[in-house]
Amino acid sequence: MTVPDSETLQFMQDMQAALSQSPKSISPKYFYDQAGSALFDRICELPEYYPTRTELSILQTHAADMAKHMGEHADIIEFGAGSLQKIRLLLNAATKPARFVPMDISGPHLQAASVSLQKEFPALQIQPMVGDYTSDWQLPAALPQAGKRVAFFPGSTIGNFSPAQALSFFRNCAQHLAGGALLLGVDLIKSPNVLHAAYNDAQGVTAAFNLNLLVRANRELGCDFDLSQFAHSAFYNAPLQRIEMHLLSLKAQTVHLNGQAYAFHEGETLHTEYSHKFTIAGVQQAAQSAGLQAGPVWTDPQHLFGLLWLDIPHTQETSS
Ligand code: AVI
Repeated sequence: MTVPDSETLQFMQDMQAALSQSPKSISPKYFYDQAGSALFDRICELPEYYPTRTELSILQTHAADMAKHMGEHADIIEFGAGSLQKIRLLLNAATKPARFVPMDISGPHLQAASVSLQKEFPALQIQPMVGDYTSDWQLPAALPQAGKRVAFFPGSTIGNFSPAQALSFFRNCAQHLAGGALLLGVDLIKSPNVLHAAYNDAQGVTAAFNLNLLVRANRELGCDFDLSQFAHSAFYNAPLQRIEMHLLSLKAQTVHLNGQAYAFHEGETLHTEYSHKFTIAGVQQAAQSAGLQAGPVWTDPQHLFGLLWLDIPHTQETSS
């Protein structure tokens, strides 16, 4: 018998906990195996999924202005070694960036992203860091000759955090980026119809992305989820300003994990993701409560998506 690696063990423990609780719920981080990451890349290209192309257009239009705020020799950090397209726009606009530090939980993803970026920016110092930016993280020591530390967190990935996790992320920024800034991409509140379509695309790619979590559990954990008996469910919860994604059991059924049986009622769901939507004032207020200071905001003409500059003072009092 092969011994599961630590990531698989963690997945198993989290899936056991998810199936034991009511309501059933698991972290969206388990979407992103190889197939899930490829499906997410396809989501970013969908006509209904406006966030990626809108954020890119804002960056294209305003990168020079953003670079002015970064200043010369910026030490640039990116949370999530995501779309190189986005960071490329910032790096091209920046004046002599001192270093680029992509941080991601997945080592191979980080390595691949760093190698291809290094080819495009041969003179840039790239220092990848494997780390979990959703919990407590560290940064490499500051470079003596570098300018401001500027962290880039695009894609509205902060929307997948709970409000408490978002606050703790801002607190970590306040602690580790003192004297620097955070450039944060957030998806803005808009018509529920537009939001609904973005998470219920006609080609069913988002449904496949959601259901892939069960495919992964069957493959990696030896579960026996019957894929034909679970449906993708995504809807906008307006009072809580978030898209909720669930996997809905189409009948009363039992799923096995590690010799243990877990019952689903007909219509019961396994919650897989929140994707919070924001007002600019709401994000600024949350950031301010962790000691960050609101700066400029760049948005698109339709106000679909926002990029917020948040300054991080050298010394501050953070409220608890
Ligand atoms: C990664 N994250 C910001 C995406 C979102 O929109 O919340 C993940 C996603 N889930 C379904 N579609 C895209």
